[in-house]
Amino acid sequence: MSIDNEVYSQQADGWWDERHFLHLLKTGVNPARFGYFHEALTRQLGRPLHGLSVLDLGCGGGILSEEFAKAGCQVTGLDPSAPSLNAARAHASTQGLTIDYRQGSGEKMPFETGQFDVVVCCDVLEHVDDLEKTIREVGRVVKPGGIFCYDTINRTWTSYLENILAAQEFPLTSFFPPNTHLWKKFIKPSEILALFEKLGFENRDMTGLNSALFNFQVAALLIRRKLGLLTFAELGRRLQFQTGGGLQTSYIGWAVRKS
Ligand SMILES: C[S@@+](CC[C@H](N)C(=O)[O-])C[C@H]1O[C@@H](n2cnc3c(N)ncnc32)[C@H](O)[C@@H]1O
Repeated sequence: MSIDNEVYSQQADGWWDERHFLHLLKTGVNPARFGYFHEALTRQLGRPLHGLSVLDLGCGGGILSEEFAKAGCQVTGLDPSAPSLNAARAHASTQGLTIDYRQGSGEKMPFETGQFDVVVCCDVLEHVDDLEKTIREVGRVVKPGGIFCYDTINRTWTSYLENILAAQEFPLTSFFPPNTHLWKKFIKPSEILALFEKLGFENRDMTGLNSALFNFQVAALLIRRKLGLLTFAELGRRLQFQTGGGLQTSYIGWAVRKS
């Protein structure tokens, strides 16, 4: 069984559609993850984000790219899906944002060595064909001393129950098409830390990225969405994603590329 990354091309119209599951990234996790990175970067660099060169690796429809562009960064977005890049370009132009969207994959990036101050990569590492090659490439394109911001999903029983069973398989709660995620491709924190050690990164922080609600409250919201009582945009807001807490399911962090 292989992961279905074609969904991002077949359903690229969904990124900015409040009734589409891809829009959950915008109202669900985006405020928490951008807030976390904004705080980490300004603290680490001792300056505002304005003017930083940022690569959004696996940018999809540009949901995270646009936040960095609005903060004054020079943003490049890279993704293998041409239809997603078209959706990203079209939306950026409606917002008056200048973002350089390019087609390519994390394993072989069309960029110069040391081109970016920051590489962000959210909800992507569990989708790539070769995790080690991708992180090696991040290490090549980010400047020495530059920063790698990431989030991904842990491979635990909790993530199986939440991200596979509830989100993808159980008829009353599911919303992802089959094989959007494969449990075997989820990444244990120890695995990513071992790759950082091998590939010249120093991890500075890692914490949970999860809903503030109890599981039964999340299940009730998923069922209401299934019954057509909530849009995905509203579901995302009500899930109240936050950083902090355990690493059992999704986790977020940042690392410095050693000089
Ligand atoms: C869950 S979406 C995340 C999109 C975006 N990062 C966000 O959070 O809004 C996963 C994205 O990873 C992209 N992707 C899949 N394989 C990839 C690879 N090998 N290199 C880079 N991106 C990849 C997909 O095309 C898709 O846009």
